[in-house]
Amino acid sequence: MKVCVVGTGYVGLTTGVCLAFLGHEVSCVDYDAAKVELLRSGGTPIYEPHMTELLAEAAERLSFTTSYADAVPGAEVVFIAVQTPSLPDGNPDLAYLRAAAESVGQHIGTGFTVVVNKSTVPIGSGNWVDAILREAFERTHNPRALDVLNGLYRAILNQTFTPPTFLPRPDEVGAVPMVSTDLASAELIKYAANAFLAIKISYINEIGRLAGKVGADIIEVARGTGLDSRIGPRFLESGVGWGGSCFGKDTAALITTAGDYHHDMPIVQAAREVNLRQRRAVVDRLLEELRILKGRRIGLLGLAFKPDTDDLRDSPAVDIAEQLIAHGARVALHDPVAAQRFARERPDLAPWLCSTVEEVFDDSDAVVLITKWAHYLDLDWGKLASLMRSPTVLDGRHCLDPARMTRLGYRYLSVGG
Ligand SMILES: NC(=O)c1ccc[n+]([C@@H]2O[C@H](COP(=O)([O-])OP(=O)(O)OC[C@H]3O[C@@H](n4cnc5c(N)ncnc54)[C@H](O)[C@@H]3O)[C@@H](O)[C@H]2O)c1
Repeated sequence: MKVCVVGTGYVGLTTGVCLAFLGHEVSCVDYDAAKVELLRSGGTPIYEPHMTELLAEAAERLSFTTSYADAVPGAEVVFIAVQTPSLPDGNPDLAYLRAAAESVGQHIGTGFTVVVNKSTVPIGSGNWVDAILREAFERTHNPRALDVLNGLYRAILNQTFTPPTFLPRPDEVGAVPMVSTDLASAELIKYAANAFLAIKISYINEIGRLAGKVGADIIEVARGTGLDSRIGPRFLESGVGWGGSCFGKDTAALITTAGDYHHDMPIVQAAREVNLRQRRAVVDRLLEELRILKGRRIGLLGLAFKPDTDDLRDSPAVDIAEQLIAHGARVALHDPVAAQRFARERPDLAPWLCSTVEEVFDDSDAVVLITKWAHYLDLDWGKLASLMRSPTVLDGRHCLDPARMTRLGYRYLSVGG
């Protein structure tokens, strides 16, 4: 099928590349000419594991442009995947979405076209996007849309495609369910799912803090709790908490939308507060341990909000670095993938960046592991301890073995039990 994807960010580019890999003809449009140029030359503006290889495999069915006139007419499906960042009042900024929807509407062809909104939008925005499209192009709802999407996703729904050799199909993946529902329900599903995951992480973090007080081991507590299949082990890992472009923005939007209906959401609100507390807890734990932070050198391992991405939006590491600097500490920052993006997006903090892990440990009073990159788990921790002024490690993800760290000469700390 002929597909157009508007926005070549984390969501749009991944969608476009995967659909092209499945055999569809995909035209990606982005108004950022530098991104389009980079993509045309085989580079990627974002980091996703195996993105470069997939791009190369799908190259002949993929094109990149800044022109809606090139990309939209003739497309059977148009995805909109532009950003919807939070405004100060918690509502998402829909200006990018409006501009994209207007441009799509102006260029839509004469054939039957399904417009899919992949941007996360407040409940009711689907109707709003629909209205913008109609202002430019009159069209009625049509059950054919579902047939088109079934066709587009058939190879995924039935898992009939051959996965790339470098990215084998996970054992547990079977046929993929497809839910067809009304707009408001679809929009609420996305928010309810993201808020639930945010709550799950904050919940185990709250339990983790209690575990620290009563002398329980949160790793064991989470393992035992997650064995219950109604709960499950995923997103039940205690640590410095969540970040990224979705959970913070989407929980804020959910609360704001609820507010429009004079409805409050205390559980979602609490999950947000607990999450911020976890970040402060890192600084508090270091204060407790080192007593004085002024003049201390604190290394932070990991800047991306999670491993396998270079996404720095609402990253706990950035928040923690700012808090430490505000306390007068000197920070030493490192990330195996996101460092370049960090230097671009946070030129004010760029001078604190280190190009090697050794530099982070060198003469440091403490090192905090914030992002669970596999790279960090495999470090020669024993050798690195010898570089530190005082070998103290704060394991922000409970991913190092405390007994081993102690054997290697570290004072091992964590947030919670
Ligand atoms: N990041 C995620 O994992 C994730 C997951 C699910 C949903 N979402 C949602 O998907 C949306 C996109 O997120 P993202 O992380 O990909 O954002 P992003 O900022 O990485 O990408 C957005 C892209 O859209 C382009 N763009 C903006 N306005 C445009 C316009 N009018 N015309 C053409 N291009 C335009 C930007 O240049 C950018 O390249 C958001 O609403 C987000 O909440 C994100």
